[in-house]
Amino acid sequence: MAQAPVTLGLDVGTSGLKAVAMTADGHIAFETTQPYPMHTPQPGWTEQDPRDWWHAAVAACQDATAALGQDAITGIGLSGQMHGLVPVAASGEPTAHAILWNDQRTGPQAAALAAAVPEAEWIRRTGNPPITGFQLTKWAWLRDHAPDAYHAATTLLFPKDWIGFKLTGARYAEPTDGSGSNVLDIHTGDWAYDLIERSELRSDVFPALVPSTAVVGEVTPEAAAASGLPAGIPVIAGAGDNAAAAHALGLRSGGPGGSLSLGTSGVLLAPAASAEPDPQGRVHLFAMATGGFAYLGVTQSAAGSLAWAETALAGSGSTGERVDRAFARPIGAGGAVFTPYLAGERSPYLDDSLRGSFHGLSLATTPDDLLRAVLEGVAFSLRDVASIMPDGGPDRLWLTGGGSRSDAWAQWMADVLNVTLERPERTPGPAHGAAALAWETQGIHMPAPQACRQWAPNPAAKADID
Ligand code: XUL
Repeated sequence: MAQAPVTLGLDVGTSGLKAVAMTADGHIAFETTQPYPMHTPQPGWTEQDPRDWWHAAVAACQDATAALGQDAITGIGLSGQMHGLVPVAASGEPTAHAILWNDQRTGPQAAALAAAVPEAEWIRRTGNPPITGFQLTKWAWLRDHAPDAYHAATTLLFPKDWIGFKLTGARYAEPTDGSGSNVLDIHTGDWAYDLIERSELRSDVFPALVPSTAVVGEVTPEAAAASGLPAGIPVIAGAGDNAAAAHALGLRSGGPGGSLSLGTSGVLLAPAASAEPDPQGRVHLFAMATGGFAYLGVTQSAAGSLAWAETALAGSGSTGERVDRAFARPIGAGGAVFTPYLAGERSPYLDDSLRGSFHGLSLATTPDDLLRAVLEGVAFSLRDVASIMPDGGPDRLWLTGGGSRSDAWAQWMADVLNVTLERPERTPGPAHGAAALAWETQGIHMPAPQACRQWAPNPAAKADID
């Protein structure tokens, strides 16, 4: 039987590139992940080579076309890690490694930007204050520390847009990633050129902005020869990973609900009714893929804290078994407390100098208590995030990300956040959202997933938690 037509969603993740081929009725016909390394040349620095992303995209497309046949693929949608700086020369080559969303080197540049333009103005105009992980502070870092790479760049791209460029030759940005740059004017939808210039940065490198559902070009014969994709099929701009995942979950601007993703970072996302930033900029305001905005609160190390603790506390059993053992310990972890600021913190503190810590340890503290303290600490950090969302955030959230695999952690999150959490029957991620956005341009709207499991707050736990 001939393969039904699909769109191919490509997600440039932090640990690998994920490709998902989706039919018009939402069936996943093929998926693959192609890993690549992350470089940490100094503590707090995170970089990747954009050429590794392209090689991974080529390998994923080759696998997809081999599995489905070339004719099945009707369009490509893109997604990826937000905030990354990809400086590109006129030749089309990167002038430096990409600096990633979780890089913490740009504290001095964030402070300099806040000195050049009052913080309240950044927030009012762009939705966010200057933040270490965002693109503009990295552009300032390049000026200050890698002037050759700074001057050789003719365009700045986001990670997924680099793949779009390699596929089509077009240089562009779209609003969901643009709003994570620090310089997208949320009122005009254009770059805030005056803010860039007042920061004494080159503004000629910011590419044309297109809508997330725009067809940005067609797969070039050169890209087709490398990837096996048919030349001439449309490439859709797509959206940053959080906006793409939200799209796949059926979340829309002004609509109900939200999502809690327990990935390396923990992200609480709530669609916003209007472009109204938090006056102190403690939660991010980012564009959604089909218009409007969402609030995003980020705790930097969520499942990242669990992965760290597993290594640091070297114990026995699978992650799931260790998490279950930890949750078999009483609430409060025998007095042990963990602050999950292993990579500094965003919401609500916006402080890259914060660090993780254990305290309250005693001779009676066991490794299971320590792990329980880590899992509790992440939940309380997300409660801090929820506390600064308008109205405390939605009371019903989709639960996604690797950490959502643990039923015990999910129940604990529902108890601490005092929300109902729902696990979607499939786990739609950014690549699914990218594939769905590619269908959107063909007039086909993917339905929201169904919930397959639900956790309501347990009133019995409330007294112990509060
Ligand atoms: C959001 C953020 C992360 C990255 C991860 O602001 O920095 O969620 O997008 O890929």
